[in-house]
Formats: sequence, C-alpha cells, structure tokens
Amino acid sequence: MTDIAEEIAPDFSFIATPHLAREALYQRYREHIRSNLVLSRALVSFQANKVEPVYNWFKYREGFSQALVSYLINNLMPSPGILLDPFSGSGSALFTGRQLGWQSQGIELLPVGAFVTETRRVAEAIDPLVFQTAVIDILQCADFAPYYADEYMLQHIPITAGAFPPDEEQQLIGYVAYCNKQVQQTDIRQLLLFAAMCVLEDISYTRKDGQYLRWDARSGRSQGKKSFYKGRIVPFREAITAKLHQMVGDLGAVPRQQQLFTEVPPSQYHEIQLQQGSCLELLPLLPGESIDLVVTSPPYANRYDYTRTYALELVFLGCTGQDVKCLRQSLLSCTVENKSKRDRLEQMYTHLHRQPDFMRIDTIFQNQQALQEVLAILDQYRVAGKLNNDGIVRLVHNYFYEMTCVVFELARLLKPGGIVALVNDNVRYIGEEIPVDIILSDIAATCGLTTRHIWTLERGKGNSSQQMGQHGRYELRKCIYVWEKTNG
Ligand SMILES: C[S@@+](CC[C@H](N)C(=O)[O-])C[C@H]1O[C@@H](n2cnc3c(N)ncnc32)[C@H](O)[C@@H]1O
Repeated sequence: MTDIAEEIAPDFSFIATPHLAREALYQRYREHIRSNLVLSRALVSFQANKVEPVYNWFKYREGFSQALVSYLINNLMPSPGILLDPFSGSGSALFTGRQLGWQSQGIELLPVGAFVTETRRVAEAIDPLVFQTAVIDILQCADFAPYYADEYMLQHIPITAGAFPPDEEQQLIGYVAYCNKQVQQTDIRQLLLFAAMCVLEDISYTRKDGQYLRWDARSGRSQGKKSFYKGRIVPFREAITAKLHQMVGDLGAVPRQQQLFTEVPPSQYHEIQLQQGSCLELLPLLPGESIDLVVTSPPYANRYDYTRTYALELVFLGCTGQDVKCLRQSLLSCTVENKSKRDRLEQMYTHLHRQPDFMRIDTIFQNQQALQEVLAILDQYRVAGKLNNDGIVRLVHNYFYEMTCVVFELARLLKPGGIVALVNDNVRYIGEEIPVDIILSDIAATCGLTTRHIWTLERGKGNSSQQMGQHGRYELRKCIYVWEKTNG
C-alpha cells in the first residue's frame, strides 16, 4: 500500500533543499554583481540600432547596438588592438570596433549573419550613385513575374512551405532571377539580393516570435488555440521598393554619419576578417595570446532556435533541409534538439594533438559544483516526469559543456591583460534558476580569467506568464560579464 502511494505521489521535498552550491557560488561573486546604470536593455539590444543607418536594413533581432559596443570598448580598452567576436551574428562588434581603430575578427555559423556582414562590407565600398542608378533601373520593372525562372525557385523545407502568398513568391523569384541575369556588377547584385532577404518576413504569413515562426491564420496552416493575424501582408513590389529607397537614402547619408561616429578615418579602417563556421571548431585553430579584446554574446540557454527563427532567410540563401538540420546541430547547444558534441570535440582535440586540453575542459566542466547541482536537480525532475521536455537536461548539460570549451579557448587566445566582455541572460527551468553568469565566471576563473565585473542591466527578465503562475515572479539577471587575463 505504502509503495503504491509513493509511486502515485512522489516525494519532491528532496528537490527543494539543495541550493547550497549555487548559494556558495553567489556569495563568492556577489561583490562583483553590480547594476550598471548606463547599460539599459535598450542600449544592449538591437532596438538602439533603429536609428542607425545600414545596421537597421536587416532586423537581426539578437544583434547588439553600436552604442553598447562603443561603450564597452571605450571603457574597457580604449587603445585599439585585435578584437574577436566568436558569435559575431550581424557583425555589430566587428564594424564598431573597426570604426574605433581595431582589427576585427569574427566567427559566425549561420549564413544569415555572414551574409549580413558581407553585405555591410559591400555597402561601405559601393558608389552610392551607381547603386541609386541600379535601383532606378530595377524599379522600372513593374512586374517581376515574367522574369520568373525555375532555377531560382525556393527549395522550401517543411517549416517554410506555404510561407508566402503564391503570387508574391512568384514576384520574389522573378526579382531574384532579374538580379542574377540582368545585373552584371556583383556588388550591386549582392545589395539588391540582400534587399529581398530583408523583406521576406514582411511579405510572408509568418512573424518571428520567440522560439518559432508564428503563422498568420490566412496561411491555412493549422493554428494553435488562438488564431493569429499579423496585420497587413505587404506585397513584394511595395516592400522591395521601400527597402531599396531606404538603402539608397542611407548610403547617400553614410559619409555624414561616419564623420559623426568615427574616431578613425575610413581610409585607415582595417579589413574585417570573418570566418563562417562553428567557433567550437575554429577557435582551437587560432594562435594563442593573439587577441586583446573579446566582445561577444553567445546564444542564451533558453531554447531559442536560430534555424527556425531565420528559416525563411536560410531557404532564401539556398540552404536545403539537410543543411538546416546540420546547422541546428552545429549551433552552440541551446535547444532541446541538440545532441552532444563531446565525441566530435574529443576527436578534434586529439587530431590537433591537444588531448590534455580536452581532458582539462572535461574536468573543469565536471568540477563546477553549482552546475552539477542544477543538472542533478533537473535530472530528478526529468525522472519524475516533471519536465515539459526531457531534452531540457541535455540542453543545459551541452550548453555549459560547449561554453566551457569556448571559455577555455578564449582564455588561451587572450594576450596577458586581455579582456572578455560577454553578454548573456540567466535562465530558469521549472522554477530552478540557472545562474549562468556566476557559473560561467567561475569556469572562466578556472581557465585563468579573473572576473572584474558582472554588470547587471537595469531590468532583468521576469518569468514567462506560464511560470509566474507556478513559481511567482522574480527577476533573472541579464548581465555583461567582464573577465580579465591578469598579467603573468
Ligand atoms: C546572440 S547572437 C550574437 C549577435 C551579435 N552580437 C550581433 O550583433 O549580431 C549569437 C550568434 O551566435 C551564432 N552561433 C551560434 N552557435 C554558433 C557557433 N557554434 N559558432 C559560431 N556562431 C554561432 C548565432 O548564429 C548567432 O548569430
């Protein structure tokens, strides 16, 4: 009888107690955790770029603002050297750093971010008048449908099929075909194609929304409980016209903007070096003690799936279903679908004759007590069937494993006196807070990086409405960590 009762009503009291390791870690780092009033959420996020030309052509939602990067550089290391962003996204840190005289190196896995970065480089070098003429030419074409060619057809994947009204997709493909066949100058063609990528969301039935694309009821795709209407779905012709006009206007104005924001004249800018691929594989190849400053923001451990959010853009850029699956698995693990990369990483380190470093990374990960506490608790919830997705334990495990690799490599790459500034959010699953900031800072300490600040932003994130019902509201820290490789 007792046995059955225990089976039906498991005892969770064992889960409520052990916050000891996290509490101890918090006590060790609390002195460093300070709100920085200059850093508001708006300054950190893409919103601050709204008014900044070129940056705002494509809405890379995770991009940080020029203002934030300038603030970090000017405060942490005013004299220029070599700057690295291993999760460079749309390249905000790279471009801002370069304007301040830095040699910028970026790594980005997703073709979307890489394309945005490449296009910004092209945009800087383009003659605005030549571009304007090309835009006038292409917009003389009132209907792109006659240019439609099968070879430019989008190879949809299940999560993008039916995303556009058919007539508008035909216009889009006609425009792409026109660019490829009629526009000879590659830099102009790239900008024109980029403009089309920028309007995909506007002309589609979808909206980027948290972890997934949300589908408008008019798409005919099956709906959740509540129908969603995104508002007006802009016809392709109208959307592309507005985007091209914006680009022409901004390019005409760029020299004036550069005068305003730049400390180094554009003629003295260093080339931006961008490598497309996974930083887990590329960082180990960079020479040690070669970087002065890292300004970066990795994916957060929050189930956000970049390959779903940017599915339309990935398909537009020619990714197949298989490509998207590979990209999803190569991203730093932050979704429940990510599988362990440990075996692959071990092979890679062995191949590089760095097996001892791999063992060290393994040990650092295993020895982080607060992390192991969280993992054990989440696993107990999993066993008890309390997690809404069993993959959450694996997600948290893999996220920190891979971040340990990243932090280990950053510590190796920094010159003595070098600094890392890293933007990240803490997360919570089933009411258990995961203090990503102090766990990573402690991992960094084991790798030889001293925490100078954990700057919290003015307002952190509250619970999701679902969590609020169960766990009450309290804020999760959203932070910028500043780590330093102390001399000697
Ligand atoms: C928070 S965003 C950074 C945005 C960037 N700060 C900007 O201004 O656009 C994180 C980026 O990391 C990239 N990423 C995820 N996993 C990666 C990996 N393994 N290697 C390189 N980049 C990765 C994502 O594609 C995304 O662009």
